Amino acid sequence: MKEEKRYLTFALGKGRLAEQTMELLAGAGITCEEMRDKHSRKLIFVNEALGLKFFLSKNPDVPTYVEYGAADIGVVGSDVLREENKRVYEVLDLGFGRCRMCVCGPEEARELLLHHEMIRVASKYPNTAKDYFFNKKHQTVDIIKLNGSVELGPIVKLSDVIVDIVETGSTLRENGLEVLEEICPVSARMIVNRVSMQMEAERIRKIIGMVRERIS
Ligand code: PRP
Repeated sequence: MKEEKRYLTFALGKGRLAEQTMELLAGAGITCEEMRDKHSRKLIFVNEALGLKFFLSKNPDVPTYVEYGAADIGVVGSDVLREENKRVYEVLDLGFGRCRMCVCGPEEARELLLHHEMIRVASKYPNTAKDYFFNKKHQTVDIIKLNGSVELGPIVKLSDVIVDIVETGSTLRENGLEVLEEICPVSARMIVNRVSMQMEAERIRKIIGMVRERIS
């Protein structure tokens, strides 16, 4: 009986992160021609010669695909890893996708962070926000989950502050908001499924080694 080919599958967060990952992998000799067509609506891409598959997903779903073994390897921001808290191995800090997780708001809201009064916090990262305010600042907060354009929160008075990632700071500046407190730095990470790490140890270690050489 012919043995079925075992592909190693990568889950990549759609957008800039996936592009930077493919650039990095290309430097290590891992490419995928099929992915170069920017207009394609295809979701999964194959490199038959290397026995690799790549798929693009929403960033917060990358750790889920890797935890369940639908992907062996994933690349996602540490902001998402912290928020999702999935059982995966985090094997490399890739050094790109750098930004900061921050508490932001109008200057007047700075005062609200000095005392332990109840405030409203809007965020795409409710677990991260909750952990920071409850465990680090010991401040009781009402967390409001949003799915994007979080900066609107304080502007339309939905919340006092937001917890969000800040990269260039231009979204904040253009909306009259500022960084009030910094929670942690963020960068892209490579993650690996726990079973794949044992079953495909040789191939995965080789990939990690090749990528590590490119980033060091
Ligand atoms: C992210 C983040 C901020 C912005 C920060 O949003 O949530 O809104 O980028 O970047 P900057 O500091 O360079 O301005 P994203 O563009 O992913 O869109 P979203 O708000 O719809 O999630």
